[in-house]
Amino acid sequence: MRSARLDWTVSENALAGVTRAAAARGGLLDLTETNPTRVGLAYPDGALSAALARAPFATYEPAPFGLPAARAAVAADYARAGLRVDPARVVLTASSSESYGFLFKLCCDPGDAVLVPEPSYPLFEYLTRLEGAVPIGYRLAFDGVWHVDFASLTEALVAAARDGRRARALVVVNPNNPTGSFLKRDELARLAALAARHDLALISDEVFAPYPFAADQARVVAAAVDDAGGEAPAIFSLGGLSKACGLPQLKLGWIVVGGRQAPASLAALELVADTYLSVATPVQAALDDLLTLGAEVRAALAARVTGNRTALAAALTAACGCSLLPAEGGWSAIIRLPASHSDEAWAAGLAAEAAVLVQPGYFFDLRGGTFLVVSLLAAPEIFAAGLARLVAHLETVLR
Ligand SMILES: Cc1ncc(COP(=O)(O)O)c(C=O)c1O
Repeated sequence: MRSARLDWTVSENALAGVTRAAAARGGLLDLTETNPTRVGLAYPDGALSAALARAPFATYEPAPFGLPAARAAVAADYARAGLRVDPARVVLTASSSESYGFLFKLCCDPGDAVLVPEPSYPLFEYLTRLEGAVPIGYRLAFDGVWHVDFASLTEALVAAARDGRRARALVVVNPNNPTGSFLKRDELARLAALAARHDLALISDEVFAPYPFAADQARVVAAAVDDAGGEAPAIFSLGGLSKACGLPQLKLGWIVVGGRQAPASLAALELVADTYLSVATPVQAALDDLLTLGAEVRAALAARVTGNRTALAAALTAACGCSLLPAEGGWSAIIRLPASHSDEAWAAGLAAEAAVLVQPGYFFDLRGGTFLVVSLLAAPEIFAAGLARLVAHLETVLR
């Protein structure tokens, strides 16, 4: 009774087993935590509850794209960041994951291909296949900074055609998880030209865009409203409360619709959104206040991430054979390790022998070296203690 979209019988991998055993022994320090509500941040609880309490609970006005006031609140939040977004181009969803679902439904027939970045967010395999589409990876290349590997993108298009698949969408994650690299405006212009040539929708996942480490005019912040994307037929920028305001529990995301065919995209998306009507009314009614309060949470998250990254950089210079890859933003850091062990062996050794949890680079399709990925969200004392264990373990193993 199961569809063939996924292998529904995935068994536990070796690292998951080691991690479970380490967790059972207790005292594990988790440097993979990406849930902002579990890292000891002070939320403005009272004000958030009051904002939700003010929302009307006894009315329901179904609106496929969301309540007009809530869409205007998202546009106003972009305006505070200096970006002009027309509220009529904002579509509310329950999360960025749902935004992907809507967009793959919109663009893809069963078996169509979606070009996805590698290394990147590991959920694309599921997000595409659950919509009946097939992910085909294209590479990001690292030579001190990360770039879109346009040759690999061409190869991905050729691979799709060879398999008899139509490529319908191209995903960028901006800034990317876990590389923390922003798409540059010249790259967006090339992607838009490619999208126009091959009739691809550009989907730009910008959930981490509110977390840059420094300003840079060369970067894309919101592809759907960036002039550099002008040639593209359809560009969708994805954002949401989950990352922008550290409020994943409120389940509200958004899509900003751009590109030359934006009116047609909106007309088609309306049918998808109207079929689900998935965003709860109270969170929409409270959205303006939530975005304002969320700015406080965002500032606390940004301070946490920068503080931990500074601690990481300082700790790694002392450790033998490791280096921190440069990043421009986001919540993650990549550590390059000696190739004496595989990334999985390093991660398993750290869990089993040092009781510290990190992710191996292959989870994110990192290649060309041995890498571990850590989240920068943990409470500073946990992060520092985990880091000390990590460095001590490396020094012992490499001695
Ligand atoms: C790049 C990226 N996009 C989207 C998401 C999911 O966001 P949401 O909670 O809005 O579904 C994540 C979560 O980690 C992510 O890393």
